[in-house]
Amino acid sequence: MPVDILVGTQWGDEGKGKLIDVLTRDVDMVVRFQGGNNAGHTVEIGSERYVLHLVPSGIFRSNVVNMIGNGLVVDVLGLMEELQNIAAKGFSLANVQLSNRAQLIFEYHKRADGLNEVRAGSKKIGTTKRGIGPAYADKMNRTGIRAIDLKYPERLAAQFRAEAERYNGIFAQYGVEQLDIEAELAKVLEAAKFLAPFVTDTVYNLNEAIQQDKKILCEGAQAALLDIDHGTYPFVTSSNTVSGGACAGAGIPPQCIRHVWGVIKAYTTRVGEGPFPTELNDAAGDALRQAGREYGATTGRPRRCGWFDAVAGRYACMVDGVDKLAVTKLDVLDDLDKIAVCVAYEVNGERTDRFPASVEELAVAKPIYEYLPGWKCDTTQATKWEDLPANAQAYLLYITKLVGSKLAIVSVGPRRDQTFEVEVC
Ligand code: GDP
Ligand code: IMO
Ligand code: MG
Repeated sequence: MPVDILVGTQWGDEGKGKLIDVLTRDVDMVVRFQGGNNAGHTVEIGSERYVLHLVPSGIFRSNVVNMIGNGLVVDVLGLMEELQNIAAKGFSLANVQLSNRAQLIFEYHKRADGLNEVRAGSKKIGTTKRGIGPAYADKMNRTGIRAIDLKYPERLAAQFRAEAERYNGIFAQYGVEQLDIEAELAKVLEAAKFLAPFVTDTVYNLNEAIQQDKKILCEGAQAALLDIDHGTYPFVTSSNTVSGGACAGAGIPPQCIRHVWGVIKAYTTRVGEGPFPTELNDAAGDALRQAGREYGATTGRPRRCGWFDAVAGRYACMVDGVDKLAVTKLDVLDDLDKIAVCVAYEVNGERTDRFPASVEELAVAKPIYEYLPGWKCDTTQATKWEDLPANAQAYLLYITKLVGSKLAIVSVGPRRDQTFEVEVC
């Protein structure tokens, strides 16, 4: 069973990119299975900081195959630019594969995303405006254009013109600037020429690798609480971000899955709108943002910050089936006197340890906190469990037990060497 899946268990930005980069030391193939360039995965190597949006975070290891799976929505111009930037920094693109079944994002999807947000007014989602929702809607409507068509320029042009005209009809109705279809098509055809050599049948390639017992790691984007089914709907993204999404989004038979890595921050952040029970709208929240450098890797927006939410974490670990927990950003809590952990909610006067399905209930959920003492010392140099102060160990064991998983990795800084495996509880 050579396939492991790594997913975020909060509202995204848990440090998935960093962990994928670390774990690919021992892996043959990294596979993205959902989302698009709404993702921003940061990898720090030495003094360099790279942010990946569509390309898997195994790209910095020359022997690793990096697959963009069928479940993604791929911004054609965005992917070309990202690949060109990676090549310009001296990394090889020889092992990059783009699924012929992946759906494509064009300029009209981005404009439609912006229009949806404007029309929603105070109910806007706060999307990344990358066209993710409209592209997945087209996929489900069966009007999307797929990566396989990048190899057939005439077919691509005909489909693009038809879809762009349809969107222009909608834009005309709502006063959105008309797309210059031929000018946009010229850019698309140029990108298609660049991308066509990467397009392949990743589903067969992946299953051949499974047969050959190659080690495969699936890289989730976003996180459980942004999942279209399991997240804080409608304040979610448009794909299945949970571990189960990997099977459909990459073409992996379920019985091939071995471990599910869940990445969880030692506190909580969220970008965009939607309920967030443990949010801190005060100096304590600002301090977390400052210490954790919590600004979006894709949009640069300040991230909302709050205490660790074990109700949400337990729910996510349950749905994802996390059997290996990676706790990141422990170092961000280094200076605190005491640390709050939300162990349950009070919803309309009743205590619950379940994560409500309704955003209305979540909006009024009052966190019930337990307080743990801080450790008030620098953890960024720790390279093993024994290096951590006792209060930091106690905090990690406490939150791990609450979410019902097994602690496997602790991360104390953005660099590769600020990560260590642990074998406790
Ligand atoms: P992703 O979307 O889950 O890949 O996460 P992002 O890259 O959007 O955000 C995580 C941020 O935290 C990045 O800037 C990382 O470099 C940084 N980071 C990752 N792990 C740690 C850690 O343990 N400590 C600190 N201080 N920063 C970390
Ligand atoms: P990574 O992979 C954090 C959020 C947006 C918005 C909602 C819907 O880096 O963890 P979308 O553009 O997907 O339609 O926006 O989802 N969002 C993310 N938040 N990290 C991400 O990705 C996100 N991708 C989308 O802010 O609230
Ligand atoms: Mg991110």
